[in-house]
Amino acid sequence: MVRYDPYPTLRRSLISLREYATPFDSEIVTTDKHELWSTKKLIALRYYIYPYLQIMRKYEFKKLHYVDLFAGSGLLRIKGKIMPGTSLIPLLRTKELFEKNKQYIFDEYHLSDTNQKYVDVLQDRINKLKSGLPTKITVKKGDFASTSDEIFSGQYPEFGQQKENGYLVVLDPYGFHVDWNHLERILKSGAVDVLITFQSSNISWNQNKIQSKSALTKMFGGEEWMNCDSVDDFVNTYCRKIESVPTQWSRFKTKTLTVFTTKGKYHLICASRSPGANNLFSSMQEKFDEVNNDLLNDVFSVAVGKKTDLDAFLDN
Ligand SMILES: C[S@@+](CC[C@H](N)C(=O)[O-])C[C@H]1O[C@@H](n2cnc3c(N)ncnc32)[C@H](O)[C@@H]1O
Repeated sequence: MVRYDPYPTLRRSLISLREYATPFDSEIVTTDKHELWSTKKLIALRYYIYPYLQIMRKYEFKKLHYVDLFAGSGLLRIKGKIMPGTSLIPLLRTKELFEKNKQYIFDEYHLSDTNQKYVDVLQDRINKLKSGLPTKITVKKGDFASTSDEIFSGQYPEFGQQKENGYLVVLDPYGFHVDWNHLERILKSGAVDVLITFQSSNISWNQNKIQSKSALTKMFGGEEWMNCDSVDDFVNTYCRKIESVPTQWSRFKTKTLTVFTTKGKYHLICASRSPGANNLFSSMQEKFDEVNNDLLNDVFSVAVGKKTDLDAFLDN
């Protein structure tokens, strides 16, 4: 079997992400606790937006929403370079796409975070970028539970209304802040695709800590995490739970992308009920799952910093 070489895709994506962020190079406030490996989730999100919009527009959804309820400040500092975060990437990507085809936008953005400072700078950053895009953008201070209740009813749309709204939801907490009840409510709300950062190693370390018991039970919506016996078992158990959420139409399917850190790994869970989206998630898994930090480091230096011998070699 021919193995897929992720290098060119990674390089193209990182060059684009870095170009998006250069107008913000003198900004001071960036979302903390991000390292090189965080670029993997940024690459995956950017990768997904265009085909997502193509699929949803093909099926004639009336309104497309981008929902990011752990939005941060919009910018990250990685190896000294400013990069766009999950709350700015769709806006920047759709600005590019909109110039070529007016269909490829989100109609509404819903961005929120509990950190007032992040919300304020994010609003300023959005104001600088939004001109020319017919997108309604809401940026507000709020915690995940209350803002998700405002946006999602937990009810499947009535017959004839299924294509009124489509949602791409990004949930990127630092810890265990996505509780199962609210996630289930989101998943039951119609045409929803979700990308969730799942702290697999962190959960595993906390398995036997008495002070984490209630947070993990709330996160899993039950005590199944207690019986998990490996880091991957936690993410697989959680994915099976997402796949068992009762829905009107076909069930959710999930794919995971592995993100390696110095302390273990976390996963980006990609969940959708759409066969087209699931094919895309498979392709993202194939492209990005094997990417380790050495490769990421090398591609980052090439794409964002100075050229290396490897780059010169691949360019020939
Ligand atoms: C991992 S960072 C998000 C980074 C962002 N997605 C990006 O790519 O730039 C997590 C964010 O969640 C926020 N946060 C923490 N607890 C929260 C809660 N309960 N509800 C909403 N946001 C929360 C933090 O202020 C922080 O900005």
